This record gives sequence, structure tokens and C-alpha cells, in this order.
Amino acid sequence: MASLPKLLSPLQLGDVQIPNRVLMAPLTRVRATEAHVPTSLMAEYYGQRASAGLIIAEATAVCDGASAFGNEPGIHNGAQVAGWAKVTDAVHAQGGRIFLQLWHGGRACHPQLNGGALGVAPSPIAITGNKAALPTGELEHQAPRELSLAEITGVMHAFRSAAANAKQAGFDGVEVHGANGYLLDAFLRSSANQRTDNYGGAVENRARLLLEVVEACCEVWGGGRVGVRVSPLNSYNSMKDDSPVETYSFLAERLNTYKLAYLHMMRADFFKAQKGDVLTPIRAAYKGNLVGNMGYTGEEAEAAIVEGKLDAVAFGTSFLANPDLPERLSQGAPLHKPDSSKFYTAGPAGYTDYPTMVKA
Ligand code: PHB
Repeated sequence: MASLPKLLSPLQLGDVQIPNRVLMAPLTRVRATEAHVPTSLMAEYYGQRASAGLIIAEATAVCDGASAFGNEPGIHNGAQVAGWAKVTDAVHAQGGRIFLQLWHGGRACHPQLNGGALGVAPSPIAITGNKAALPTGELEHQAPRELSLAEITGVMHAFRSAAANAKQAGFDGVEVHGANGYLLDAFLRSSANQRTDNYGGAVENRARLLLEVVEACCEVWGGGRVGVRVSPLNSYNSMKDDSPVETYSFLAERLNTYKLAYLHMMRADFFKAQKGDVLTPIRAAYKGNLVGNMGYTGEEAEAAIVEGKLDAVAFGTSFLANPDLPERLSQGAPLHKPDSSKFYTAGPAGYTDYPTMVKA
């Protein structure tokens, strides 16, 4: 069956040539150490998935004290850089390419994971729509602390030095996590931002921190090795925007100036509460490569690329459960189902033990 010729064709993604348009989406898997250091097991996991056009490695903290899950990786000290170097070596040894997703958990960071410190945010508004997922179980989120202007500048510097650390660790580029209600998204979307200074109110103010972070990453890497991920409709972490089409059209136009590797858009809502078409206006406003994500089948991804709606598609849980996903898609082979009970557990079970196809 399926050969999916466009999906499996090469693409120039900024400065990076990719052999197919089947990207691996960033997936939080909490397999790092308690000190947020990437492990050899993580190197094995990513190495197994090197046939992706591009791997976008999981959300990785840019500074200390910004843990939202426990055991997620960081990229703000030497041990973490050394751990990630094992990962990039494993992917490159298999002929792959890997970006690192740079992240600050913002108001989703729980005091119990951060030495008692509150999460931080544009405004002191707690997440109420879902709980914090700690290794010990779920807890209510607490109201975060509002960042001062000096601290906001500090956030931008943390992203810049994390971008430089990612370079040292051997990544091929970085993706800025501007999605899912974490710090940069909390500034961007109106529901979480009640500031009255230069970082709140009008869309150009709400987008300011994200754009400053993108600019800092571009200074380190050049725009052709920087991507940005957004989630205009996702209500996860109590997020909502009063006018998503206006907000994201503005953002897309401003991002054009950086000539990025790509803009990565989650098309839907984890909770299916917010609906709409933000993809079409973003496609119209954004001049570079647009990557789609969330629940695409191979056939749907192929059609979206053929119709000119997208340039590539990032696959999350299907890549997690099928390390050789591009090959399976090309052969129309059946896909393994992901075992969600092992998404956030420790060790190799449900992580590195998904089989590749048996070669004929
Ligand atoms: C994210 O990093 O965007 C993320 C992580 C874990 C989730 C949802 C979103 O459960």
C-alpha cells in the first residue's frame, strides 16, 4: 500500500537538509536523572529513531528551578551538556539529525520539585484546568509568582545560554517551546497575561518575550537552525487566547524576519474544548516551512503536503511506538500502538523496547 511520495521526499529546513518530512515531535518522557542529566538510555532511545527527517528532542529546561515533571532533562550545566552529547552522538552515528527543544515550565513548575519555590509567570494566575503531574502523583497547581522586568530579561539570557549549551552538546539546532501554557506561551496568550507593562496587553507586547528569545537563539545559531513551536488552540494548562487568529497571524509575520528553519504548529486541543482553523491564516501569513502536528496519519500528512497546507509533519506517539516510522509508512506496514501507561515511567519498558520491522 501507501508509498506517500511527498511525505517521504527531502526538504530544505533552513540550513538543514532533511531526507524525509516525517519529523519526530518533542515528547516528555521523564527518563533523565533527578539532577536532570540525560542518560545512556535516552541516547539509545533517540538513536533508535534516527531515521526521522528531524528529531525534535523533548522539552528541556533552560535554567535551574524550572522543573514541571521531575526527571525531565535540563541544558544549563556541564553534566547535562555531556549527557546530551551522548544523545547527539548516538543520533549522528545512525545518520540522523536532532534539534533540542528549549523550555521553561513557567507556572506549571511545582514548588515540591523546585526546593519550595513557586512557579513564575507573567501574572499570578494559577492553572486550574489540570493538575501538576509529579513523579509521586498529581497535585493541584499553585498560583505562580509574577516576574519582574529584570527577571524577564534574565529568562531571555537563560534561553540564550541554553542555546549555546545545545551547540556545545552537538545538536543540529534548537526549537523554542512557545506552546502548551509554559512560560513563553503564558506571556503570549491573553488568558494568562494581565500585565500592563511592555510585556502585556496588546499582541506586540504579549509576543515580546517569545520574540526576544527567538532573536537570542538566532544570534547563537543563525535563523536557519532555529524552529518555534506554538499551540494556538490548546487549552491544556488553562490556556486560551481572546483572538487566536490575530495573535498568531501577528506572530507568524514577525517570525518571517528571522528566516527560521520552521514554524511548528499543534493544530488542536488536548481537551477538544477549543476548535477553529488557525492553520489557514498562519499558512497565509508565514513565509517559511510550516510543520503540522497532532494526530496526523501518514495519508493525512501526505495530503496536507500535496495540497500545500504544510511542508512537513511531526509525529508524536506514533514515533514513540514505532522507532522506524518512516520505513513503516513507506511500506504501509501496521503501526504499533503506544502504551500510555509507560509514557512517564522510569526505565526501558515502553521506551526502548518497541521493535523495528523484521527485515526480509
Ligand atoms: C509539553 O512539553 O508541551 C508537554 C509535556 C507533557 C505533557 C503535555 C505537554 O503532558
